[in-house]
Amino acid sequence: MADRLGTALQYARQNQGAFLRAYQEILSIPSVSTDPEHAGDIRRAAEWLRLQLTGLGMQKVQLFPTPKHPIVYGEWLQVEGAPTVLIYGHYDVQPADPLELWKTPPFEPTVIGEDIFARGASDMKGQALVTLKAVEALVKTDGLPINIKWLFEGEEEIGSPNLEKFIDSQRDLLKCDFALNPDAGMMGAGLPTITYALRGLAYFELHVYGPAHDLHSGIFGGAVHNPANALAELIAGMHDASGRVTLPDFYKRVRGLSKAEREEFARLPMDERFYLEQTGAPKLYGEKGYTPAERTGARPTLDVNGILSGFTGTGSKTVIPASAMAKISMRLVPDQDPQEVHQQLLRYLEQKAPADIRWEVVPMSGGPASISDRNHIGVKAMEKALTSVWGCQPFYRREGGSIPVVSDMQRLLGIESVVTGFGLPDDNVHAPNEKQHLPTWHQGIETLIHFFLNLKSG
Ligand code: BES
Ligand code: MN
Repeated sequence: MADRLGTALQYARQNQGAFLRAYQEILSIPSVSTDPEHAGDIRRAAEWLRLQLTGLGMQKVQLFPTPKHPIVYGEWLQVEGAPTVLIYGHYDVQPADPLELWKTPPFEPTVIGEDIFARGASDMKGQALVTLKAVEALVKTDGLPINIKWLFEGEEEIGSPNLEKFIDSQRDLLKCDFALNPDAGMMGAGLPTITYALRGLAYFELHVYGPAHDLHSGIFGGAVHNPANALAELIAGMHDASGRVTLPDFYKRVRGLSKAEREEFARLPMDERFYLEQTGAPKLYGEKGYTPAERTGARPTLDVNGILSGFTGTGSKTVIPASAMAKISMRLVPDQDPQEVHQQLLRYLEQKAPADIRWEVVPMSGGPASISDRNHIGVKAMEKALTSVWGCQPFYRREGGSIPVVSDMQRLLGIESVVTGFGLPDDNVHAPNEKQHLPTWHQGIETLIHFFLNLKSG
């Protein structure tokens, strides 16, 4: 075992340059899932992964078409009696805009100091590559100590619209002991982290319609309700003075926090100063009675993600717009149900919307929150691996972001996921100048080598 570990780690260290070149290759493909213009790039990224899996000697390597972007599958099941791990990843990325804020081109990966800058460097091509290169180090030395299956999707950043159906229809193919999901991050450099809970998501467009067409705001201002004003009023009513969401029954199913959980939150290195530094906001905001770490990790929230109405160009235009739209999403915690939250939003609007406008809610992506068993073999093997590589115990944290596949796998496959990752809080994910800290990335590869070997011996 010690020798197996030593030779695999040595392989990883000797091949750091080649690993980085592969990473740069995949980062050069602009696989933006939301933009139809990039469908060809999405395809190229999927083909690139297919080649990687084939090169690793994986079997049954194939692309499964979906109504949108293909799922890449591969497996290696040659170690009798050893556990089977389903490795999850997504090869799609968020759009790079606003382009003018990037210091280096988003799809020309650039190493500056210890960081590599590119869209997807952290979320999550970097993490996907960590899994591929850790497996490579094992395959190219003494062989894989366990069984693995791979599932790479190309639609995570648009809410995985076709993944649930795929998992449901491929239960036999995906049968495994647990999943490895490296799509979360670390709490800071040198602070290894296991994410044991994720928030869910319910995402909507709220359209408000007023006059049949745009109006001169002088001639008609005062005679009709401006849809942009009405939308703003509706949005303003969605929180009360203590920062709580006012949708009817919104908190009904929210699981409370035990004293022990609150103590654990308090021990995380995420105090008010951390949030002020990370956000650059002049002051923090949130639900009264909870710390920022609790509010993001274990309390539900409602946010406007975008507003569209009227004239927003240079200069001024005196107009009453005919309509207004807001993208509004709620981050959910156990045991909230996205369908129920949809109904709560409708009820709020039925009660609060004035009769002088019409409104419509268009549901978008979503999924429930998840909490994972912290004692299963995958988590234990990861805890040991992180401890070996970083020289300290990992933090267990509840994450505010969403990875809907974790609850899909719980529900459809009956399996838990080990959720971790090697991105840092200041990686600018979904934002300009996304980056990945390369020394952490290489340590990530070493961590997964330990992890796979820990599963064998345990
Ligand atoms: N990797 C993120 C989720 C994440 C972010 C986990 C930060 C841990 C820390 C993932 O790619 C993502 O952005 N998910 C979306 C989900 C949505 C599109 C359904 C999110 O959270 O907004
Ligand atoms: Mn993301």
